Amino acid sequence: MKWTRITPADNIPAREGRSVELSEGSLAIFNLGERFVAIENRCPHNGGPLADGLVGGTTVHCPLHNWKICLESGEVSKPCSQHGEFRVKTFPVRVENGIVEVFA
Ligand code: FES
Repeated sequence: MKWTRITPADNIPAREGRSVELSEGSLAIFNLGERFVAIENRCPHNGGPLADGLVGGTTVHCPLHNWKICLESGEVSKPCSQHGEFRVKTFPVRVENGIVEVFA
């Protein structure tokens, strides 16, 4: 694992996500306004591209079937009653000199 420079922070508007391909796989990086977060870019339901989902608070809604995934823990928050064991990996993110970096 190492820090990888991704993109200038200005390239990801607030409340939006962008996908990036790393050797670890596809990651989804989101700008939550005051900070950035990163998760696997693959919905645990059926592989939906989470970077294209709608962000509300600290969750993203999968664009395919609307599962809600917590951007902080990676846990599926809805429908939690049926799929409580599903989650995605999360990755540390920092901004160094205006550049978003991911630890992956
Ligand atoms: S693939 Fe994400 S909710 Fe179905």
